[in-house]
Amino acid sequence: MRDIAIYAGTFDPITLGHIDIIKRALKIFDRLVIALPNVSEKSTFFDLISRIQMIRKSAIEFEKNISVETFDGYLVDFARSKNIKFLIRGMRDEVDFHYEYEMANANQHLNSDIDTICFFASMSDANISSTKVKQMAKDGQDLSAVVPECVKKFFDRKDVLCER
Ligand code: COA
Repeated sequence: MRDIAIYAGTFDPITLGHIDIIKRALKIFDRLVIALPNVSEKSTFFDLISRIQMIRKSAIEFEKNISVETFDGYLVDFARSKNIKFLIRGMRDEVDFHYEYEMANANQHLNSDIDTICFFASMSDANISSTKVKQMAKDGQDLSAVVPECVKKFFDRKDVLCER
C-alpha cells in the first residue's frame, strides 16, 4: 500500500521535532502508523502507556490520519504484517545519518520490499532530542519550545523534581 507509512520510535517523550516529521510525512502519505516497540531497546523515563497518550494528545489535529500502535520484534515484520512498505525517519545531523543509514540497511537486509524515507529535521528542531528534553525538565527549564503543551503536563505529573 503506497498511501500509508510507519513512523516508529521510542518517543520518550514525543517532541516538536517528531510532530514536524509527522506533519511533513502526511504531505506525502494519507495515513501514518506511529509505532512504538513494546519492549524498548532504551530504558525509558515514561512508561509505554504514557508515551502513547502523549502522542495521541500531541497529534490530535492529525487524528483522522494517524494511528498509534505497538509492536514486538522486528519493525519490518510489523510492517509486513500490515502490508506497509515505507518507514519514515527523521534526520538531524551526521550522527543521525550514520545511525539511520545502518538501520535502513539492516531493515533492507531483513526485508528488501520495505524502504526507509528520511526527512531532514527543520533547522529549528536540529538540536532537540528526547534526552535533551528530559534534561531540561530536570533542570527546571521551560519546555515550550521543544515539546507540545500537553507533554509538559506529563512532566509535571511525573514530578521530575524527585528524580533530580
Ligand atoms: N526532531 C527531534 N528529535 C528527533 C528527530 C527530530 N526530527 N528525529 C529523531 N529525534 C531524536 C529522538 O528524540 C531520539 O532522541 P533520544 O536518543 O534522545 O531518545 C532519537 O532522535 C532517536 O529516537 P527515535 O526516533 O525515537 O528512534 P529510536 O532510535 O529510539 O527508535 C526504533 C528506534 C524503535 C525504530 C528501532 O529501535 C526499531 O525498529 N526497533 C525494533 C527492532 C528492529 O526492527 N531493529 C532494526 C533491525 S536490527
